[in-house]
Amino acid sequence: MMSEKTIELKNISKVYPGVRALDTINFEIGRGEVHCLVGQNGCGKSTLIKIMSGVEKPEPGAEIYINGELCKHLNSHISMSKGVQVIYQDLSLFSNLTVKENIAFRDNIRKKSLFVNWKEVDKIARKALELIDVDIDINAKVGTLSIAQQQLVEIAKALTGDLSLLILDEPTASLTGKEVRSLFRVITNLKNKGISILFVSHKLNEIFEIAEKVTVMRDGKIIGDFTPSELDHDRLVYLMTGMRELYKQPKPIGNDYEVVMEARNLSKNKNYKDISFKLKKGEILGITGLLGSGRTELALTLFGMNPYDSGELIFEGKAVKWTSNREACAAGVGYVPEDRLNCGLIMNQSIEDNLTITTIKSYLSRFGLINSGERLKALNTKVKELGIKFSMPEAAVKTLSGGNSQKVVLAKWLLVNPKVLILDEPTIGIDVIAKNSIHTLIKSLAENGMSIIMISDEVQEVLQNCHRILVMSKGRIVFEFTPDQITDKELLEKFNLA
Ligand SMILES: Nc1ncnc2c1ncn2[C@@H]1O[C@H](COP(=O)(O)OP(=O)(O)OP(=O)(O)O)[C@@H](O)[C@H]1O
Ligand SMILES: [Mg+2]
Repeated sequence: MMSEKTIELKNISKVYPGVRALDTINFEIGRGEVHCLVGQNGCGKSTLIKIMSGVEKPEPGAEIYINGELCKHLNSHISMSKGVQVIYQDLSLFSNLTVKENIAFRDNIRKKSLFVNWKEVDKIARKALELIDVDIDINAKVGTLSIAQQQLVEIAKALTGDLSLLILDEPTASLTGKEVRSLFRVITNLKNKGISILFVSHKLNEIFEIAEKVTVMRDGKIIGDFTPSELDHDRLVYLMTGMRELYKQPKPIGNDYEVVMEARNLSKNKNYKDISFKLKKGEILGITGLLGSGRTELALTLFGMNPYDSGELIFEGKAVKWTSNREACAAGVGYVPEDRLNCGLIMNQSIEDNLTITTIKSYLSRFGLINSGERLKALNTKVKELGIKFSMPEAAVKTLSGGNSQKVVLAKWLLVNPKVLILDEPTIGIDVIAKNSIHTLIKSLAENGMSIIMISDEVQEVLQNCHRILVMSKGRIVFEFTPDQITDKELLEKFNLA
C-alpha cells in the first residue's frame, strides 16, 4: 500500500554557527498535493528543503519518512532514489555542457566517459522539453542561455528521473508570465499523475493560484498550515512577518528639473533601436516589457558595457561614449544586474569584502570609504536599512539565504551613492516586506537627488514606484506613461505582458 503522505518530517532542527535555521519542525506533504512554503528571506525554507533532499543533516532526534518509510541516514543519493527531485534556488547546471547533455546525463561525469548513444540523448532531451512545452535548442551550451531558459532546462532534467516529490525552490523568480503559465501547466499535469509538488515563492499571487496547502514559516519555525481559502494577501503577509505592507507613491518632481542623462535615438544592431528618453534628477524611471525586449542590453549600454552603434548619450550635459563600465562608474553610474548571484558576488568571500570589491574599489577609495573603520560603519548602516540577516560580516556570502545575498549586491552599490543607479529586476527573490523596504529605500534615494532606472517585469512594481514608465518591445520604446494614466490590468492586456 502506498502511503498517503509523500514525505513526513518530525522534530527537525538545524543549527549553523550563530543561527538556529530550523527549530523543531513538523511537516508533511500529501500525495499529489501542490504545497507551497512561504516566509521571509532567511526563515529557513531552503534549509528545510536541503534536509528533505539529504544534502544537509538535521540535529539528532529527527525522523524523516519518505513514502511511509523511515529514512535513518538520508543522503542525497537515497533521497533521489526515492523520487525526491529538487530544483535549487541557485541553479546547478553545467554551463559548459549542452542542453541535451545536462538533461540526459543525470550522473553527469561518469556516463559521459562511456559510450554515448546520442540518438537516445536527443530523444530524452526532446521529450523532457516537450513535457514542459518549451522550445530551446538542445545543442546550445547552457552557459549561453538566459536564466529563465536555464531554469526550464533544470526542470526538464528533474522530469527525466523517478519522481514522487518535485521540490522547486523559487522556480519562477526569473521567469516571465508566459513561462510561469507553462510551468503551472506542468505542475498540474504532474499532480494529476499523483506526484507531489513543493513550491517556494515570494510572489504571493502565484501561491493563491496554484497551492492547495500553504505552510507559513517564520524564524525557523512553522507558524501554521493553511488552505488558500483561509488566507488572503494581507493575512498571509501578516502571518509571514507580523507586519503590514505600506505603499507610498514617489514624491512628485517639481517643474524646474535638471536632466541627468539623455538618450537621443540610441541604436545598437540586434539589441535596440531609436531609444530616446530624458532622465531627470531625482526621477524613478521604470522600464518594463517582455524578456528579450532589449531592456537589459540598453541598461548595459547606459553602464558603458555594450557600446551603441549610433545616436547620442548625454550625461550631465556632455555627449559621452563610454567604452567600459569603469568609465561609466567613474562618471557616477551604478548598475545592479539581474543575474546578481553570478555577476554581482564572489560567493566564497566574506559579506564585508563583497560589499567593497572590484569595479567600485577605486571609486570607493576616492571617497575614503575603503578605510576599514569607515567601511564597517557604512556597511552597518546599509545592512540595517535593507534588513540583511546574517550572523557576522566575516561570514562567506554563500552562507546567506538567497534573498539576503541579493540585498548585499544592492547595498554594495548604495554605499557608492551614484548619480544614476540602474536596477535590473531589483526585487527578484526578495520577500514582501524586504521588497517593501527596498522600494521605500529607492524612493528616499530619489528624494535625495539620485536618479533611478528601474527595469522590471512586474507591472505592479513599476506602477507603484516610478514617476514615469517606458514600455519596450522588440528593442523599441513603444509606449510612455505616468502611473495615473493606466491600471495594471490595462497595461498587462495592452502589451500582452502577462
Ligand atoms: N551553510 C550555512 N552556513 C551558515 N548559515 C547558513 C547556511 N545556510 C543557511 N544559513 C542560515 O540559515 C538561515 C536560513 O537560511 P535559508 O537559506 O534556509 O533561508 P530561506 O528561507 O531559504 O531564505 P530566502 O527566501 O532568502 O531564500 C539564514 O539565517 C542563513 O543565513
Ligand atoms: Mg532560499
